[in-house]
Parts: sequence; structure tokens; C-alpha cells
Amino acid sequence: MISPKKYARPAKTIPKGYRTANEFFEYVFNDKDMIWMGQNTNHLHDENEIMDSMMQSIKKRDYNKYPPPEGFPELKELILEDLDLQNEFDILITAGGTESLYLCTNDILDPRDNTITCDPGYLIIDNFASRFGDHVKSVPIYNEECGYKLTPELVRENMDSKTKLVSLVDPLNPLGSSYTKAELKDFADLANDNDIYLLHDITYRDFATDHKLMAKYAPEHTVTVYSFSKIYGMAGMRIGAVIGVPDLIKSIKTIVINDLGTNVVAQRGAIAALRSKKKWLGHIKNTTRSNQDIIKQAVDQVEGAFMPVYPSQGNMMAIDLKNTGVKPLDISEYLLDRKIFTREGSYTSSRFGERYLRVSFSIPPEHVKYFAKCFIEGMGTLKKSV
Ligand SMILES: Cc1ncc(COP(=O)(O)O)c(C=O)c1O
Repeated sequence: MISPKKYARPAKTIPKGYRTANEFFEYVFNDKDMIWMGQNTNHLHDENEIMDSMMQSIKKRDYNKYPPPEGFPELKELILEDLDLQNEFDILITAGGTESLYLCTNDILDPRDNTITCDPGYLIIDNFASRFGDHVKSVPIYNEECGYKLTPELVRENMDSKTKLVSLVDPLNPLGSSYTKAELKDFADLANDNDIYLLHDITYRDFATDHKLMAKYAPEHTVTVYSFSKIYGMAGMRIGAVIGVPDLIKSIKTIVINDLGTNVVAQRGAIAALRSKKKWLGHIKNTTRSNQDIIKQAVDQVEGAFMPVYPSQGNMMAIDLKNTGVKPLDISEYLLDRKIFTREGSYTSSRFGERYLRVSFSIPPEHVKYFAKCFIEGMGTLKKSV
């Protein structure tokens, strides 16, 4: 008999009335009135070149054929150009940042190595790292002292001779904290001096005001994880990439999963997304930023609630509720009844999940205003019952 694996698992709470997480997702996905603030996805793209190119690809029946296995060269070049990493780097197109994370942990870690991540953080990285390495040290970062991020000092305190990988999600899901140039340079020294790899997950990069690439400071010791799910609004298409120096990508290619390549229609959409990026980026970034202000004003009206990181550099943020006495799960269920999908903290933290609600806000401003109203009302109602 094959028994379930013992990997670190995100503590997923199944909302009331559902038997499985999948059943819950089936419900929220199919409800056309549901406001999607639970997965950091982007609902601000209009009918544009991205959609047109995918429609054309389907009409041409591109999908009858397998694509080039490592990705269309045009797409590979456009991503490297987007990052200004054309020269010393190679790239592999994947079915999303998730597959890239899996490939990186699989390729870099040996069974005796350990990994440093942070709590709160993106827990599937801990899960993948624990499949291939020895253990994962998840460093608590939910405090002002470290700026709500995994700092080079914290890594130095927590690493040992078997530390091989440090995960830097930047901007960080769920808090929205991001790194300065000085911090990245410090990480580069740390990685070069100790032969440690830095997993730079830049899924939310384009929402940040000033984002820098780890790959520029420690090229030989960095793997960069790229996603089309957020700023490009293509989460359902499942497409992303992994970028590194040629030796690293060569090694990753020996352990590929999608041996027959990544979704053709998604790749066509991704090419159009990069080609048209200048046209829509400003609008999406600015709307996301001003939506954040609407949420801030609502949070400020609830005594005891606050945002640990403001402004968030991503398109999501945590709202700390600890001092209000209201449980994140209770307010998320209240909001779900009003057709607003958010996420309680336990989805991104094993230690601090009881403290915060995570909301994402790349959605139309009128939906954010509706959230703000329901949040204030809901907190008022729930506070009375604690
Ligand atoms: C930090 C981080 N990395 C990767 C992903 C997954 O990206 P993709 O949809 O490209 O698999 C997410 C999704 O929320 C994320 O928050």
C-alpha cells in the first residue's frame, strides 16, 4: 500500500459547508458574482491583445500540435528582455511559477541540505523544499524589527553548513514587503561566500514601485521564478518561467516535468502580454495602488485593526485583527456570505495565521469600495459577539 507523504502541508481550512477545498473552489469559481480577493489574481485587464492572440491561436487550432519543448524562442527572448537579463542568462518556460519552484527545489537540493524560508510566506515552497531536502527552517518575520521580511541578518543567524537554499519571495506574499538594493547586495555576499542558492520569486515584481533583481548581484547563485498569473492577469492559463545562468538551466532541463512543452495558447497570450505591456502596465499598477488606499481608510475605521506593511509592494496585503478580538476565519466567512472571497492568515502562516486576513486588490475600484463597506460592517457585527 502507498501511504500519504509527510511533507509540510499548508494548514488549509475548509470553509463551512464544504467537504473538500476543491468543492469550495468549484463553488467560488463558478459564482459569477463572487469578488475575487482571495488569490492575488488580477481582474483589471480589458479585452485586449492578450485575449485576442489567445483567441486567434485557438481559431488556428494551434492546440492540435505540441509546441517546442522549452518554450517558443520569441517568448523566451521577450521575458529576458523584460528583465534586462539578455546576456548571461538562460530560461525555461514552465506551466507557472509553481512548476518553476518545484524544479528549482528538485534541482538544487540534495537529501542532506536544508532550506530557509519565512513565516508568513508562500507555503508551497516549504512543501516542495521538504520533499527534496532534509528540513526547512521557517524563520518568523511577523514583526517590525525585521521590517516583516527575511533579512540577511536573520538568514545568517539561522543558517548552518548544510543550508543550500534561501527563499526570497519579493514582494512577499502575503505581506507585500520587498527588498532594497543594499539588502540584495548583502544576500549576494552571503550566497557567494557560503555557496548558497537564492530562490528569487518575483511573481509580484511589477506591482512594486522600485524592484531590483537578485540575479544582477549574484548571477551564479540565483534562480529567478517568473509568473504570468498576476500582473498579466493570466492565472488560469498556467504559464511562467525559470531563469538562471546556463549551467543551472541546463541542470534543471534534466529533471523537467513538462517534457512535451507548455500550453501553446498560454504561450501565445504571454507573447502578446509582453509585447503590449507598456500600454496597460501603468493603468493596472495605478488602479491597484489606489485600491489599496480605499482599504486602508476602511481598516483605519476599525479600532484595533492595522496593516503591518503599508503600502504593500504587491497586489495583496495582510490586515491584522488580533487586537479586535475577531478571528480571521470569522470575518472571511462573513465576507464570503456577501460574495467576497478573501483568505484567512492560516493559508500563508503556521504561526501567525490567527492574526490576519489577507486580501488582494487588483480588482475594479467599485468592488473594493463594496469590500470596504462590508468589512467595516462585518467587523462591527463580529466584535459585538466576541
Ligand atoms: C509567491 C508566489 N509564487 C508563485 C505563485 C504561483 O504562481 P503561478 O500561478 O505562476 O504558478 C504564487 C501564487 O499565488 C505566489 O504567491
